[in-house]
Amino acid sequence: MQQTRRIFSGMRPTGRLHIGNYLGALKNWVELQDSYQCIYCAVDIHALTTISSAEETGDIAVNIEEMVLDWLAAGLDPERSILFVQSHVPEVMSLHTLLSMVTPLGWLMRVPTFKEKVRQMGETDETVNYGLVGYPVLQTADIILYKADAVPVGEDQVPHLELAREIVRRFNNMFGETFPEPQAKLTEVPLIVGLDGQQKMSKSLDNHIDIALSPEDTRKRVLTAYTDPKRTHRNIPGTPEVCNVYSLHKTFTPSADLNEIYQECTGALRGCVDCKRQLASNINKHLGPLRDRREEYRARPGYVKEVLEHGEEQARRIARETMAEVNEKMGLA
Ligand code: TRP
Ligand code: SF4
Repeated sequence: MQQTRRIFSGMRPTGRLHIGNYLGALKNWVELQDSYQCIYCAVDIHALTTISSAEETGDIAVNIEEMVLDWLAAGLDPERSILFVQSHVPEVMSLHTLLSMVTPLGWLMRVPTFKEKVRQMGETDETVNYGLVGYPVLQTADIILYKADAVPVGEDQVPHLELAREIVRRFNNMFGETFPEPQAKLTEVPLIVGLDGQQKMSKSLDNHIDIALSPEDTRKRVLTAYTDPKRTHRNIPGTPEVCNVYSLHKTFTPSADLNEIYQECTGALRGCVDCKRQLASNINKHLGPLRDRREEYRARPGYVKEVLEHGEEQARRIARETMAEVNEKMGLA
């Protein structure tokens, strides 16, 4: 039996993270380090499932570096947790292939994220690449290669975890008890709406604020935020409940100041520009220490590479052990 419960989670390397990624996932990853053995992975092979040109693959290395800098800045600790790149531990690809032998195609075709992705990409069941169909099998391989018990993820990943448990059950039935059934670990997180005030903060919608943004650029960007649309003039009382700037204040502004903002907005006593300046300054205060750390790590030559090599070594040790067991159980010894 493992002494401490083991956590595994993965993030696609999309480059610099924004405050939605930070508050929605990364902050939680940092906190989990106090109670679990944590393994965190930059899933570069998963990134390839939706790639359509060589230009895009050229960004992967840079995107990993930028993302891992954000990880370290936020407090992921390579002394306590295993931080590594998915493709650096090729055992995951062997396990993916072997798991694909025990995964019925129907299970994969029914996954809601799969259908959604196929539609989004303008593909059909005929044209979609085989890798995308197997996305959740690779994700299952990620998790169970390390025999992780719990997987911190967002609501959208719950179907993938259900499938992972089904694959595990099937494997264990066919070849004997080998893997624990991984549980999704959902955490309450505030919905971080983007600067457009319309949708969840996301890089593809360009409504985001990067963690690594300078204070000055943060201020500029916050000043573009959409507010209460009815408030076309300072004399018109506002409705903070429908204002995105206010919702960000709730995350970044000390609660002692919130009531005043509310009163001044509904009483037409504060302008939106001032309100945004105050928000930007609070975001900058909040992220200041994190940004300083990021800069420190960025300035150390080879540091990220070193961290990832160390992680790779630790991850591979576990991966090799699991694969020896799996190969033997499946008759490949
Ligand atoms: N599919 C996950 C996402 O899009 C990323 C991911 C890949 C992952 N492998 C994982 C998450 C393993 C948790 C565990 O967010
Ligand atoms: Fe939003 Fe602030 Fe303007 Fe009120 S004053 S509408 S909370 S930006």
